[in-house]
Amino acid sequence: MTDSTAAAGAGIGPRLGVGREAEVYAWGDDAVVKLYRPGYRGHGAEAAALASLAGHDVAPSLVDVVKRDGRPGLVLERIVGADMLDLLRRRPWQVLAFARALAGAHLAVHCVEAPADLPDVRQVLAARIEAATLPRELQGFALRVLDGLPSGDRLCHGDYHPGNVMVSGDRVSVIDWSNAARGVPEADHARAILLLRWADPVPGTPLVTRGLMAVGRSLLTRGYARAYADVSRRPLRDLDSWLVVHAAARLSEGLMVEQPRLLALLNRAWQGARVLNR
Ligand SMILES: Nc1ncnc2c1ncn2[C@@H]1O[C@H](COP(=O)(O)OP(=O)(O)O)[C@@H](O)[C@H]1O
Ligand SMILES: [Mg+2]
Repeated sequence: MTDSTAAAGAGIGPRLGVGREAEVYAWGDDAVVKLYRPGYRGHGAEAAALASLAGHDVAPSLVDVVKRDGRPGLVLERIVGADMLDLLRRRPWQVLAFARALAGAHLAVHCVEAPADLPDVRQVLAARIEAATLPRELQGFALRVLDGLPSGDRLCHGDYHPGNVMVSGDRVSVIDWSNAARGVPEADHARAILLLRWADPVPGTPLVTRGLMAVGRSLLTRGYARAYADVSRRPLRDLDSWLVVHAAARLSEGLMVEQPRLLALLNRAWQGARVLNR
């Protein structure tokens, strides 16, 4: 790690992006630095994931790990382009091409073996389900479903959606690896489907835009799911069960707008399982 505030200060430029966990600044001409907010600990997982992705051309390369004013920072190759969410807003008629690109990059990620020090996605999910606000019977049901699901050794992004995918010409680069974990690809794929289906658009979006987005969103979700299944050319196992556990885990994130739909999905699955077990 480069622990030099002077060196860090020498290269820092304008702020390019801001998220919940971190701020991203230009760093010299060809790089950015992602500075984590105090209290956020995702940089370890992000650095490990990016190191394992070196040479796969599906993520920015990790250049250095630095510290600035006590905050951990990752210096990353700078992607000159826009995120896919932004491009979808600007070029909605290309939604199916974006869906295919989204699936292709996700499959490329799942070809990578996860570093051993990343957490098991099943353990991450168990902790989130236990922390979620939901009726006890649904919580118990989700934990039992999770118990029957397999572990795996593939690199999982953990928060895969078009806002975390940058496009620069023909190149697609996946960013924001702070929730990276190890598991089977289906675990990561199911979370992406859930986010594509229901994650709320930016608060304050006018109603007409929301309507248009709903149409585009459904095309994007179906296009992504179809392209992922077609290109992976192997049966995807337990997708419905992974959707159930992700719906329960997502309830720990406190997103009130999504709550009714997540609970409805869980209730349907629970009732279905009860009928089968009768
Ligand atoms: N390697 C990069 N090159 C260029 N811009 C980047 C890069 N990484 C992140 N950004 C910009 O910073 C924003 C936030 O980065 P992200 O890693 O998603 O952080 P957060 O965890 O805060 O969401 C991105 O949406 C993007 O605009
Ligand atoms: Mg992000």
